Amino acid sequence: MTSVTAEQGGQPPTAAQRAVISVRGVEKYFPIKEGTLQRVVGNVRAVDGVSFEVRPGETMGLVGESGCGKTTLGRCISGLAPPTGGKIYFRLPDEDAATLDLIDPIPESDRTVQQRKQVERIDANHRVDVMSGKAWRTYRRNCQIVFQDSFSSLNPRQLVKDLVGRPLQVHKEASGQELTERVVSLLESVGLGRQHLYRYPHQFSGGQRQRISIARALALDPEFIVLDEPTSALDVSVQAQILNLLHELQKDRGLTYLFISHDLGVVRLMSDRIAVMYLGKVAEYGTAQELFEDPRHPYTEALLAANPDIRAEVSVMKGLKGAVPNPANPPEGCRFHTRCPVATPACGWEVDDAVAWLQARELLAAGLADVQRRSKFDATLVFHDEESASAVVRAIHDGDMPPAMKAALETVSTDGSSLVIRFFPVEPVELEDVDDGHLTACLLHTERRHQTWPPQTSADSSSRTAANPSSTSTRNSSTR
Ligand SMILES: Nc1ncnc2c1ncn2[C@@H]1O[C@H](COP(=O)(O)OP(=O)(O)O)[C@@H](O)[C@H]1O
Ligand code: SF4
Ligand SMILES: [Mg+2]
Repeated sequence: MTSVTAEQGGQPPTAAQRAVISVRGVEKYFPIKEGTLQRVVGNVRAVDGVSFEVRPGETMGLVGESGCGKTTLGRCISGLAPPTGGKIYFRLPDEDAATLDLIDPIPESDRTVQQRKQVERIDANHRVDVMSGKAWRTYRRNCQIVFQDSFSSLNPRQLVKDLVGRPLQVHKEASGQELTERVVSLLESVGLGRQHLYRYPHQFSGGQRQRISIARALALDPEFIVLDEPTSALDVSVQAQILNLLHELQKDRGLTYLFISHDLGVVRLMSDRIAVMYLGKVAEYGTAQELFEDPRHPYTEALLAANPDIRAEVSVMKGLKGAVPNPANPPEGCRFHTRCPVATPACGWEVDDAVAWLQARELLAAGLADVQRRSKFDATLVFHDEESASAVVRAIHDGDMPPAMKAALETVSTDGSSLVIRFFPVEPVELEDVDDGHLTACLLHTERRHQTWPPQTSADSSSRTAANPSSTSTRNSSTR
């Protein structure tokens, strides 16, 4: 995904030849602890392998439902939270990005001494989570963050003069009268003025408080600002004013933004390029125009449908079923398959889906005593009696199960009161470039759309019947 400019000719990279921020395979997991010993029993995979870059002067939009990892990613990029995995770079020259593209896939133990030194040099100069000293101070000045909730991000006991002037004091940029004048100038740049210097945050409206937050973010004249839902708590008219202000500031100061919002309409107004996030991963990535005029992911379409005023031609509201799944146990295959209105058999159906289907049917679920999982795709459902197991098989055959889930079943076989279900295992669906920089992680658009179904697997009937030699086995072909 790194674009390398044509002729670098050994010259030092110019600003135009380097990304302001490069996010490379970033992960952020939060451990789940239980018991008196606080043992780690799992992880919330808030951000799970995200890559993109933000170029000078552009606005990169990050959009997705609440809980999909936007804030966590924004905090990692701002240096407020260390990533669990992956790397974040600041001002990474294209030349170095190309070097990392070559070296990163090589396991560390297989790298040459020269390759290791190259990575060490690049990391020391540009990698946000390991840089120190001058490089780190430069980053802290140049990367600022504005949060949604200006009430909690502004200390209620401090005057505006101190709130906005604090970064200048900390970095010993100004003091005394000069500091006051710099604060006045910052306030004026966001539409406030000298008369606001000696007031407290609670004396302002929500929009004005957000202007104060923006003035503070601008204090050190940064290059890059993470805007995390900066207008989500505001009335629509005030929202428009703040968005206009952000536009103007970007034009005047050459700022680069990462603009985070759950609202695709707002993201469209602000962004040059957009990454649509779902459950810790990027589902689709492209220019604002590509995403709005030619979306290549049903999740993007669902977000667009939720903004009918933005895309007037949307005629069918594709309402999404259910809630966002638990990021501690994300769905297999395509993470969106549990809610996707056009999911296919190849999208990652698994035991959890069958159990959820069963549990939504009170009569069938009443007979279920236990679920013995061998893998995400393979389990024995133990019922209280034979009739309960047979009733479930009939429900599957009679078309009660969604057709895509049913066609994903490799085996359904009963053995007394036990029912073995096995889905065809599938690989995770990864982002793929489908049109010159337009990336999607939907099987309907990637090369995997050419895959035949059911897949040819080596573990054929021998292993299936071995699991239940005396069972009544139902093969996928007969369940469709
Ligand atoms: N400090 C934390 N500890 C544990 N889980 C967290 C923490 N911060 C965020 N999460 C979880 O990570 C996921 C992503 O959260 P977040 O980044 O806030 O999403 P978004 O900004 O898209 O709404 C959520 O499931 C959230 O509950
Ligand atoms: S791969 Fe595409 S069709 Fe399949 S579940 Fe995901 S978004 Fe839907
Ligand atoms: Mg958030």
